[in-house]
Amino acid sequence: MIELKDDEQAMLDGHYGTGAQIAMKIQVAIGDAYDAPHMVPVTRTHVALSNQEADLWFAEKLVAGGAHCRVRPTVNPSFNWRQLKKVTTIRPEDEAIVKRTHRAYTDIGAIMTYDCTPYLERNVPRYREVISFSESSATPFVNSVYGARSNRESAQSALCAAITGVTPLYGYLLEENRRGQVLVDVQADMSDDFAYQMLGYFTPRLTGFRIPVFEGLHQPSKEALMNLGAELNTGGNVAMYHIVGFTPEAATREEAFQGHDDYETVTVTQADLDAMRKELTAPDGAIDFALFGCPHLTIDQITTIAEMVRGRDLAVPLFAMTSALTFDLAREMGYLDQIEAAGGHIFSNTCMDQPCWEFLYGKRGVTESPKCAYYTKRRNMEFVITELENAVASALTGEVVR
Ligand code: F3S
Repeated sequence: MIELKDDEQAMLDGHYGTGAQIAMKIQVAIGDAYDAPHMVPVTRTHVALSNQEADLWFAEKLVAGGAHCRVRPTVNPSFNWRQLKKVTTIRPEDEAIVKRTHRAYTDIGAIMTYDCTPYLERNVPRYREVISFSESSATPFVNSVYGARSNRESAQSALCAAITGVTPLYGYLLEENRRGQVLVDVQADMSDDFAYQMLGYFTPRLTGFRIPVFEGLHQPSKEALMNLGAELNTGGNVAMYHIVGFTPEAATREEAFQGHDDYETVTVTQADLDAMRKELTAPDGAIDFALFGCPHLTIDQITTIAEMVRGRDLAVPLFAMTSALTFDLAREMGYLDQIEAAGGHIFSNTCMDQPCWEFLYGKRGVTESPKCAYYTKRRNMEFVITELENAVASALTGEVVR
């Protein structure tokens, strides 16, 4: 049984209300399942709020029990019904659940960032900081790129940590569990950010649940790292990786493996990445729309889009999703006007895995993100996946060509 401090036991006994009691009860159960000896404090949290009924049920239950976050979380995107109303009709029931979710999370003390890249802007951890992050692109980024320590939390377990201010000590919080487990020798052209999408999606096929240690990657951009983590955790369940000579726990191969030398080596070739791309993408040809920003676009990616469409007319509608901060920056810098003048849109606070995209169901689009194509399959959307620049060029002509 996990050992609790007096304050944690008081929470479990209900002295802080039933909301905090539920949160602690869940964390004790998780801790016991993983043989955690005790709880440790967290200093940051991020909750992948999903705007779905089960998520809302849980948040409202905690609010009704008087729960309030000790460590206020940032939250994942929902959908920006005010902005989306410019291009589609929003069903009253969908708007209602967005508003109720907003209310519940605001009441519980969350910071309503609606952003799936908090690790770039508003919730940036430091090396070795113990945190509780949910969101599939965020967990690999904070663990691997910053060397912060987070387990692969669910929205609910991260919310529990936000409320109690602690998390059970297990998994990636422990030094020995952060050791690389398989060497991935990358023998492919990794000169653009898109290659990292394919590397991320393909690698778990060779490595499974193990922590990969990449060699052959040189100074990846923040967008490349965002792509790599998002796809490792979509094509597989990988919440942590190392890049030798680049990430903070892997100055050398030896450090990445914590001195062990009993690891397997696998090789990723250009042919593997080409085959992965062929498998994931729909065939080239005519498209009905372009959808970017899963995870949310950075200002550099928005700059690329704006510069390509400036003074031109898009052949098909283009939708770009980003955080509210980057949206404001894009407006300040004139990119919003340029993209809108071409027939495109930038939406803040919005995720593609939301019901607001129903007007695109049954249609064929182009995207830069395999994760986008993965999530929208169940919504009957088909995607050609290609480099951002090529995808924008395709939106200008209405056809994907390579
Ligand atoms: Fe972000 Fe939603 Fe994609 S949370 S990473 S836009 S599925």
